[in-house]
Amino acid sequence: MCGIVGYVGKQEACPILLKGLHRLEYRGYDSAGVSMISGSGELHVYKTKGKVSDLETFLADKDVSGTIGIAHTRWATHGVPCQKNAHPHFSSSGSLSLIHNGIIENYTVLKERLMAKGFNFVSETDTEVLVQLIEYYKVKNKCSLLHAVQCALMQVIGAYAIAVLDKNNPDEIIAARKASPLVIGLGEDEYFLASDATPLVEYTDKVIYLEDGDIAVINRKKGVHIVTIGNEEVDHEVSTVNIDLGMIEKGGYPHFMLKEIFEQPQCIRDCMRGRVNAEATDVRLSAVIDYGEQLINARRFIIVACGTSWHAGLIGKNLIERFCRIPVEVAYASEFRYSDPVIEKGDVVIAISQSGETADTLAAIELARSKGAFVFGIVNSVGSSIARNTDTGAYIHVGPEIGVASTKAFTGQVTVLTLLSLCIAKEKGTITPEELHNALIELSQIPDKMKEILKLNDGLADLSKIFTYAHNFIYLGRGFNYPVALEGALKLKEISYIHAEGYPAAEMKHGPIALVDAEMPVVVVATNMQLYEKILSNIQEIKARQGKVIAFVVKGDDTISKVVDYAIELPVTVDYLYPLLAVVPLQLLAYHIAVCKGKDVDQPRNLAKSVTVE
Ligand code: G6P
Repeated sequence: MCGIVGYVGKQEACPILLKGLHRLEYRGYDSAGVSMISGSGELHVYKTKGKVSDLETFLADKDVSGTIGIAHTRWATHGVPCQKNAHPHFSSSGSLSLIHNGIIENYTVLKERLMAKGFNFVSETDTEVLVQLIEYYKVKNKCSLLHAVQCALMQVIGAYAIAVLDKNNPDEIIAARKASPLVIGLGEDEYFLASDATPLVEYTDKVIYLEDGDIAVINRKKGVHIVTIGNEEVDHEVSTVNIDLGMIEKGGYPHFMLKEIFEQPQCIRDCMRGRVNAEATDVRLSAVIDYGEQLINARRFIIVACGTSWHAGLIGKNLIERFCRIPVEVAYASEFRYSDPVIEKGDVVIAISQSGETADTLAAIELARSKGAFVFGIVNSVGSSIARNTDTGAYIHVGPEIGVASTKAFTGQVTVLTLLSLCIAKEKGTITPEELHNALIELSQIPDKMKEILKLNDGLADLSKIFTYAHNFIYLGRGFNYPVALEGALKLKEISYIHAEGYPAAEMKHGPIALVDAEMPVVVVATNMQLYEKILSNIQEIKARQGKVIAFVVKGDDTISKVVDYAIELPVTVDYLYPLLAVVPLQLLAYHIAVCKGKDVDQPRNLAKSVTVE
C-alpha cells in the first residue's frame, strides 16, 4: 500500500522519482505527489488526485528542479483521495515535507495535543500528524532532523515507512521503517529509496533492506548511516538484487496481467529448477533438508495467508493431507492473528505471500512464533519482510508480479506446495518411489500443457464478449478444483467489478441455486474424473433452471460437453495437478471480460497489490 520513492545525488530528481512512482503504482494509485528542494533552496511540494500520469500533467508548468526529492503514490486509508490528503505533507512552517506508508494508530491523540500547541492541519490524514510532530520536536529541542524524527517516532503507535526532507538541509533524506517496507539503493555518489527494489534496478543492484526500528540518514556527501530510534548504530549488509528490467516491463503485452498469465509455463519451470532431478525420481527442497526434523515430524500444519495466496493454501491442504497424511488447517491471516489459536509442540505454520509484506500475514507469523511454532514461508519477493521473518522457506521464483490481480504467483505457490508435500512425503515414507516418479513426471509436463491452454486465448476472448452483460457469476468446483473456483471468482470481481461467488459444486443447492436463472452464467471446473457423475448432476441442476453453463472439461469429454452451453477442453493430467491448468483459462476469461468492459485491468479500483495495513 502506498509507494515511496526518494533520490539524492547528481541527477535531476524529478524524472527519477516519477519513473519510480510508475514502477510502484501497483501499490496504490488514487493520488500522487513529489517534493524536491531546488538549487536555490526552495522546498516544493506538488500533488494531485489521480494516477502518476495525472501528476505528470500537473507538473508540466511547475519548477521541478532539484537533485534531492521524495515522491509518493497513495492508497487512501484516512481521508478521501483528493489533493489535500495526497502526500507529501508540509509541516506548518513549510520547512519539512514528508511521505508515509502505513497507519499511525494514535494520530487523533497526537493531533489534539499538537492543535492545543497551535499547529494547524489542512488534511484529514494520519500522516500530517507525523510531519507536524517532527517539526514540533525540531523547534522545541533545537536539534537535528534525525533527532527530531527519533523523538517523534517514540510517540507513535502504528506502522510506517517514511521519508522526510528539510529545506534547511538540502543534502539529506531521513527515512524510517516499522512494519512497512523500505529499501535503499546504492549508486555512485547517488542514493535511491523505495518501497521495494523495482524502481532501483535500472540504476543499481546494490541495496540495503531496512529492518523494523531502523532510521536511515541518506546524505549526498556522507552516504548512508543507519541508527535505531534510540540512536544505536546499525550495520546492515549490502544485498544484490537479481531483477532485470525486462521482468518489470510489459514486453509488448497490452497489460502486465496478460504478460504474467503467459509467463506461467516458464515460471513453473523456474520454480522446479534445481528441485526436481532430470530423471524425475527425486525432489529436494533445501528447507526440508535443513529442517527435516521439524517438517517431517510435524504434528499439524497451519497455513496462513490472504487473498489469492489463501486460495493456494487451500490446495496446499489437500496436497499435504493426500501425500503426507498430516492434518492441515488453513486460516485467513487476518483472523488467525486475533484468534488466540491453540499452538502446540510440533505445529508448523506455513505462511504464503506473493509480496512478502502483507501486514496480516506478518502479524500471524509473529503470533505463531511467539507461541513456539516453527514457521515456513512460501514467498515470491526475495528479501521481503516475510522471507526474513520465517524460520525457513522456499521462494516461488516467478519474478516480479506487477498486475494487481495475482496470476503467476498463484501457480508458483501451488507448484511449491506440490513440491513441498512430495518432498515431505518422500522423507516420511508416505509415498512410494513409483508414485513419486509418476507425480514428478506429471508435474514436469504441466508447463507444456499450460502452453496448450494459452492457445485458447483468442477463443476465450470471443467467449468473454457474450458475458459482459452479466452482473453476477457463479463458479463451481469440487475437491482440488473448489479453490480454483474461488480463485476464478476472485479474479473476475477484482478486475471486472462483476459480483462473483465461488462455491463447492454440491453446496450450491444450499443457497446459491436460488440465484440461478437464464441470466446467470455458471462456470464449472469439471475435470474431476472420480466425481464425474456428481459434477454432471450439479450441472444438470443448473441447466434445469436455465443457467448458462461454461464448463472446463477433460480433453475428449463427451458427456458434460453435450449438456453445457460452452465446453472448453483442458489437457489430461492427474486430479491434484488440475488447479495449475484449470486456473489459467479462468484468469484469461476474467481478463477478457474486464478488457471488454473497458476496465483498468492492471490497476483495478480500490485495490492494491501489497497490503501493508491491516
Ligand atoms: C492483495 C492482492 C492480492 C493478494 C493479497 C495477498 O489483496 O491484491 O492479489 O493475493 O493481497 O497478498 P500476498 O502478497 O500476501 O500474497
